[in-house]
Amino acid sequence: MAVKFVLSNGAVDKQRCDLLAVTAASGAKLSAAATAIDRLLDGTLSRSAAANAFSGKLGETLVVGASGIGAKSVVLVGTGMASELTVDGLRRVGAAIAQRSRKAKSVAVAATDALPAAVDIADAMAAIGEGIVLGNYQFIKYKSEQKRSILASVAIVGVSGARVATAVDGAVIAANATCWARDMINEPAAAKSPADMVTAATKLLRGKSVKVDAWQGAELAKRKLNGTIIVGQGSRRTPRFLRLEYAPRDARHTVALIGKGVVFDSGGYSLKPSSGMEQMKTDMSGAAAVIATMSVLAELGVHSRVVGYVPLVENMIGGNAYRLGDVITYRNGKTVEVMNTDAEGRLILADALCLASDEAPDAMINLATLTGACMVALGPKVAGMMGNNDAWIDQIKAASERSGEPLWKLPLPPEYRKMLDSEIADMKNVGGSYGGALTAGLFLKEFVGKVPWAHLDIAGPSRAESDDAYLSRGGTGFGVRTLVELVQTFRKPR
Ligand code: BES
Ligand code: MN
Ligand code: ZN
Repeated sequence: MAVKFVLSNGAVDKQRCDLLAVTAASGAKLSAAATAIDRLLDGTLSRSAAANAFSGKLGETLVVGASGIGAKSVVLVGTGMASELTVDGLRRVGAAIAQRSRKAKSVAVAATDALPAAVDIADAMAAIGEGIVLGNYQFIKYKSEQKRSILASVAIVGVSGARVATAVDGAVIAANATCWARDMINEPAAAKSPADMVTAATKLLRGKSVKVDAWQGAELAKRKLNGTIIVGQGSRRTPRFLRLEYAPRDARHTVALIGKGVVFDSGGYSLKPSSGMEQMKTDMSGAAAVIATMSVLAELGVHSRVVGYVPLVENMIGGNAYRLGDVITYRNGKTVEVMNTDAEGRLILADALCLASDEAPDAMINLATLTGACMVALGPKVAGMMGNNDAWIDQIKAASERSGEPLWKLPLPPEYRKMLDSEIADMKNVGGSYGGALTAGLFLKEFVGKVPWAHLDIAGPSRAESDDAYLSRGGTGFGVRTLVELVQTFRKPR
């Protein structure tokens, strides 16, 4: 169940709740609200802080029982040094509160007195709300012993007004969509065939002002979505292609969102070693991000038209699987010789990029867990971004900075294009030993036409190896919050 958020203008000590969160900065310096609560509790809070060597570092928490105030217990949350308390720092504060709130049904957060002057109050409260929802996330459906969070409601204390309420609501909506993506990513491949993905998307998007088209079989062939057909032919679970359209009446621009949906990537006949396959249920993270984003556009009142394109396949071996040396002819007439069946993501994205380009959007962006090489370049937490239009790239970079999803621009050097040259076709689907993230980007560029386009390689940040504040181990839902921010603030790139 989604956590409900309200703003409360009542006094901090009068908040009726299971848990009241107040803050302390580095050096265990209690905020004004924390000091007031400490007095009402006869110094229990400060004594317990001292006894437990609570230092106030960002995200540190300490819980004490309470009596004589509205709350049943109090959690003291560290906000660290003023320089650490950025918007992202506030997301971490939110996550720390959530992780201490699993046994509380109702929580009140009094944090306005912790804010540095540089952070806007609406942005700050939104960040805390976002951190709470993301930090409260659990994927425990396959655990027989479930320690399920019972958190149901959060009151943000000491703020009011439509501007703050709208900011908090928007952040919470995007965070919940991120949790939907996480659920899909964490789900075992056995439970999410391409057809299952269509079912899940259809269910999520019902009543959300999104037109859903799901193509299979002859409908794929009719539209020449041949990469999707051929990559998917090795699996008994046949491919699908989702086209999702949100078209508000007053729309002046169209943005295309494209997501790689490989529900399981065995590598095909260029088979992955077992260790490389372990996490390949997550190879549909781009698809999950696009579907999740589509689900919140109406609720957020996005003005632009947004069209999602999601090829869904399972990359398997078997009697009908595609082979090395096979040639694929694309919608735009280009031919590709398959030299590695494990470079399958680009083969299905090419269909989506062709189709989207044919519909001439004002800009397009694709998200894909595309290359291990991008992880080598940028590590596990930063996505690589490539594209053909600097204004569009800058717009995406700015959106990602606001959402706190780090990405970094990589080049598409024209002189590397020859690494993709094929003996018999227009190109092959792999380059040389080096620059694998870039040759993948150069491959995609061949299917883009003239539309401003950006490619986000999210192989690294789509998954977290360990819990870290608002990112929990497993699927992260990376990209949802950036896409939501991007479509809300979209400007046509020049
Ligand atoms: N899905 C993988 C990329 C990947 C690797 C994502 C690790 C997340 C973690 C992709 O389909 C793939 O196999 N890429 C190959 C490309 C190569 C054959 C050119 C790779 O990176 O090894
Ligand atoms: Mn692969
Ligand atoms: Zn893949």
